[in-house]
Amino acid sequence: MATSEWTPDARELADLELLLSGAFHPLTGFLGEADAHSVLDHGTLTDGTRWPDPVLLALPDDHPAAAGDQVTLRDPEGAALAVLTVTERGPHGVAGPVEGLGAPEHGPFARLRRTPAETRKELGDRDVLAITMRGPLDDPVLAEITATASELDAAVLLLPLAYGEGGPAVVRAALSARDRLPGGAAITAVPLAPREDTAIDLELREHVAEAYGASEHLAAPDPISIPGPPHRRGLVVFFTGLSGSGKSTIARGLHDVLLERGTRTVTYLDGDVVRRLLSAGLTFSKADRDLNIRRIGFVAAEVARHGGLAICAPIAPYAATRAEVREMAEAVGADFLLIHVSTPLAECERRDRKGLYAKARAGLIPEFTGISDPYEEPDDADLVIDTTGIPVERAVARVTDLLTSGRWIR
Ligand code: ADX
Repeated sequence: MATSEWTPDARELADLELLLSGAFHPLTGFLGEADAHSVLDHGTLTDGTRWPDPVLLALPDDHPAAAGDQVTLRDPEGAALAVLTVTERGPHGVAGPVEGLGAPEHGPFARLRRTPAETRKELGDRDVLAITMRGPLDDPVLAEITATASELDAAVLLLPLAYGEGGPAVVRAALSARDRLPGGAAITAVPLAPREDTAIDLELREHVAEAYGASEHLAAPDPISIPGPPHRRGLVVFFTGLSGSGKSTIARGLHDVLLERGTRTVTYLDGDVVRRLLSAGLTFSKADRDLNIRRIGFVAAEVARHGGLAICAPIAPYAATRAEVREMAEAVGADFLLIHVSTPLAECERRDRKGLYAKARAGLIPEFTGISDPYEEPDDADLVIDTTGIPVERAVARVTDLLTSGRWIR
């Protein structure tokens, strides 16, 4: 039996916590092919038990785990959370029962994350009206809860489904709802990630509520999320293009304009500057370029998370990696603009400000973008600028026009 390690993604870690706590009862591990298919086709496990969602754990193809092995599952900070005994490895991922290695301690509001058994014990013999919630409860919903609880003579249990970025806000919403319920309420935070299919999501909420001892369950209506106005939302302005295309020049010009206006906080992550510190030591192999772009994306998303504006200007030759950065920005509630500086290779090479194209042609620089390494032209750019024969101010104005028309700047 071989042992190995793996760090599941955020959604899988949330499912893992529910598997370990018993909230996903009767499930005790990640599902295999037969159960996953049965769930998708019939809404039941292969033994006929109703279960709405195929709870899966993906593993990359090059991960060594095979049936009979044990995999230690770790959180992103490296803490070992559980051991998975692999029963099966298939196209859906890896299946098998999980065993916990002590209660998870990470994350805000850890003291509110009690297991179903602890929660049921606290509530005693009373009937329980459980409310699963993903946002604040408004007055009509609170009134309905109060009326139903008194009708059933039930204790109220608030189950904030705290997952991801919005998790802490949902828990705060539960604390505030408790204070406004005349009979009070117990609160247990449950890291249940939303499922795309609303029917599946609802059935899963029912299952979880039942595990926590609910005799009655109310799924509070999901809040309509109203994003703030664009000028207060985070924004990542991401330039991509060949070396010498004019990315840095336009980006610097944009940075200056934004600093002069002074209405937004701005961070500028220039490609060459990033490579001197943040990505020092990385080469220009595909793997290192991807890592470089992910690092830039990570910092940009942190800036945008707090409503800042991040300007990035690397070559970023690969479409899939640019798409990852877009997702990183959107995951923190920020906007993302891709600006393709499309100046043709011939013009970049004619300028050759750093003399790199001449060296690349002479074979002195291997893997040089446009000469001996690929550049994937974006088909999802929000703006395309060819700087051939146009002054810098004109190019910068096209970007500021885009930001103004989208109301990111006023
Ligand atoms: S990226 O591909 O990882 O996005 P990045 O923008 O950080 O590239 O760095 C590009 C800069 O590094 C170019 O402007 C150029 O000055 C320099 N450079 C050195 N070697 C290469 C190479 N093989 N390909 C492209 N740019 C290179």
